[in-house]
Amino acid sequence: MNESSRQAHWDNVYTTSDERNVSWYQDRATPSLELIGLTGLSADAEIIDIGGGASRLVDTLLKDNFGRVTVLDLSGAALEAAKQRLGGNAARVEWVVADVTTWQPSRTYDLWHDRAALHFLTDGADQSAYVERMKQALKPAGFAIIGTFAPDGPERCSGLPIVRYDPSDLAATLGQEFELIDARRHQHVTPRGAVQRFQFSTFRRH
Ligand SMILES: C[S@@+](CC[C@H](N)C(=O)[O-])C[C@H]1O[C@@H](n2cnc3c(N)ncnc32)[C@H](O)[C@@H]1O
Repeated sequence: MNESSRQAHWDNVYTTSDERNVSWYQDRATPSLELIGLTGLSADAEIIDIGGGASRLVDTLLKDNFGRVTVLDLSGAALEAAKQRLGGNAARVEWVVADVTTWQPSRTYDLWHDRAALHFLTDGADQSAYVERMKQALKPAGFAIIGTFAPDGPERCSGLPIVRYDPSDLAATLGQEFELIDARRHQHVTPRGAVQRFQFSTFRRH
């Protein structure tokens, strides 16, 4: 899937569905928030949510007084939904409409968070481009928390094929610059009651 058809797909999803009805919807972003807590990062940490869409992770980060939060997504419609929900608090967030595989980061971050975006990159060149962006954007000793469908999770999401990872597959994809420091499984229950098996891995950059 090329960049413009990806964008058209996701803009269509977010303009035709309520954010609370999509299969990946969560009221509260677990286990992401717990894993962010385990990093020990302070409230002035620079955090970026890659493929953040309309996720409510940003709402809780703002409530917890994290003041330097960026949400990146290729769908402007997804980010609009999040901004509408946040109202005046939206101005406390940096919003970036970009495809992570071609994005040019203008600064660096202490934490890279991605729940269910990387796994849509089924092409090796796109996966390599993702890792290059991560290397450009993450500070030395920075953390990356990446959630994907696990090997026993679904084979598709939002009608698209995905790549399922276990933590060691993910570590091999990211390369030796990133050390795996935590790995756990998570069962997400969709708004329709289906169970989806995820893995969440935390890496630290050397
Ligand atoms: C399954 S949704 C997950 C959204 C959010 N992370 C959450 O947990 O609610 C996948 C998100 O990744 C975004 N996405 C997919 N491919 C992307 C890419 N190449 N660059 C940036 N965002 C992408 C989509 O627009 C969508 O918002």
